[in-house]
Amino acid sequence: MPRGLNLGCRAGGAGPRLDRVEQTPGAAGPPLTPRTAVVWSVLRAELDRRPSAELTVLDVGGGTGGFAVPLAQAGHQVTVVDASPDALAALSRRAAEAGVADRVRAVQGDGDALAGLVEPDSVDLVLCHAVLEVVDEPASVVTALATALRPGGAASVLVAGRSAAVLGRAMNGHLDVAATLATDPTGTARPRDTLRRRFDAESAAALLTAAGLTVEEIHGVRVLADLLPAAVADGQQGALVELERALAARSPWRDLAVQLHLFARRPA
Ligand SMILES: C[S@@+](CC[C@H](N)C(=O)[O-])C[C@H]1O[C@@H](n2cnc3c(N)ncnc32)[C@H](O)[C@@H]1O
Repeated sequence: MPRGLNLGCRAGGAGPRLDRVEQTPGAAGPPLTPRTAVVWSVLRAELDRRPSAELTVLDVGGGTGGFAVPLAQAGHQVTVVDASPDALAALSRRAAEAGVADRVRAVQGDGDALAGLVEPDSVDLVLCHAVLEVVDEPASVVTALATALRPGGAASVLVAGRSAAVLGRAMNGHLDVAATLATDPTGTARPRDTLRRRFDAESAAALLTAAGLTVEEIHGVRVLADLLPAAVADGQQGALVELERALAARSPWRDLAVQLHLFARRPA
């Protein structure tokens, strides 16, 4: 039987310690961070629809298991398909350290070749976080996600937002790059851009809809977190988590977020 979520975090980089785990004040739930709180809120609502079910979860491009391992700790069976053997090795170590190696399956493979790796119509919840902006064919990957889902199953998709990238580059003085990001059809500034595309809410939703999924919710993730001085982000983590959650679904804040989270469902 699934247990309560015990959510972990990824290592932070330069600037504010966005991934440091904080317990939301007053909440009797899992620890939340500015980087993950909004996504976990949406996922927890989905898990709570079937509180005693052991779900089959697929995390495409799940990397080192930042979401997969907590979901396994919550009692679900999680398969991570990722192109990187190094990421999968780290995932396996993390799952073993967390005592859930038996609930986490690591599979090396391509997101758009899921048909050979995962049974069609077999997955209750599919995650695809920070992947569609780097793959060759995002439409193929989304179609593969939709095919893997059971009718009624849900998809959690996190993509890079274009608007935040434009603002970020402009605020750092790179007005030429900002102008390119604002007008380029893919929302990138090649050839030096690390991403192959960025999205706005409409283009991301259209991608999922074209694959037969019904988009139920769109939230902004990291509306403010990346903009704050480290002293503020580190010193007021709980307040920042609450503010991120408060702004995530509201215009214009949602559309200025560093990432957009789409929650979609395969029609039953
Ligand atoms: C930015 S990381 C995101 C990891 C994780 N989903 C997260 O949000 O923390 C992107 C991941 O996608 C994987 N990846 C990139 N292209 C892929 C593909 N075509 N098929 C499967 N995984 C892929 C990478 O190896 C990497 O682990």
